[in-house]
Amino acid sequence: MKALQYRIAIFASGSGSNAEEIIRYFKHHSSIEVVLVLSNNADALVLQRAARLNVPSCIFNKAQFRESDEVINWLKEAGVTHVVLAGFLWLVPNNLIHAFPNHIVNIHPALLPKFGGKGMYGAKVHEAVKAAGETETGITIHLVNEHYDEGEILFQTSCGVTSQDSPTDIATKVNQLEYRHYPVVIEKWIMPSK
Ligand code: GRF
Repeated sequence: MKALQYRIAIFASGSGSNAEEIIRYFKHHSSIEVVLVLSNNADALVLQRAARLNVPSCIFNKAQFRESDEVINWLKEAGVTHVVLAGFLWLVPNNLIHAFPNHIVNIHPALLPKFGGKGMYGAKVHEAVKAAGETETGITIHLVNEHYDEGEILFQTSCGVTSQDSPTDIATKVNQLEYRHYPVVIEKWIMPSK
């Protein structure tokens, strides 16, 4: 049996393509494992991906998440040490932040502080980048605090945007950066000496 020291829970609200990349990346890792996927959306594709990859999942509602310690208790029972947000749309409540201080990470599909904050998610981010005529965009991986997209930045990298790029083209470029970097940055965050 492997001596797994670090146990990740992934929170996702939608497709979960990043969650899948992360699960696959750590599948055969000697020290880190994804042990749980959690979603606020019973129809989220991420739940099917988790099932296919043999990772247990749970669904929760707003009251369970915001007004109780139920979700925190699930995480503790599963021995979770680190929380990863991957396309998770709800603000993380204070009780969860305090249960995992500096142990919650998020990815934002733009170069924060630009194009961040409440309501800036998914396609809206790429549409805003296009509308602003930006010549570059990218990804930001950051620690999570009680405000949307404001925690300490761990990593950023960029890609070019041309005037011909549609928001969908921009999303495709950004997704490629996410898949390439998010699992590796998570690994370095959890095990800095590696
Ligand atoms: C990603 O672009 C991520 O940066 C953002 O939401 C999107 C989620 O996509 N926070 P997926 O669910 O991982 O496919």
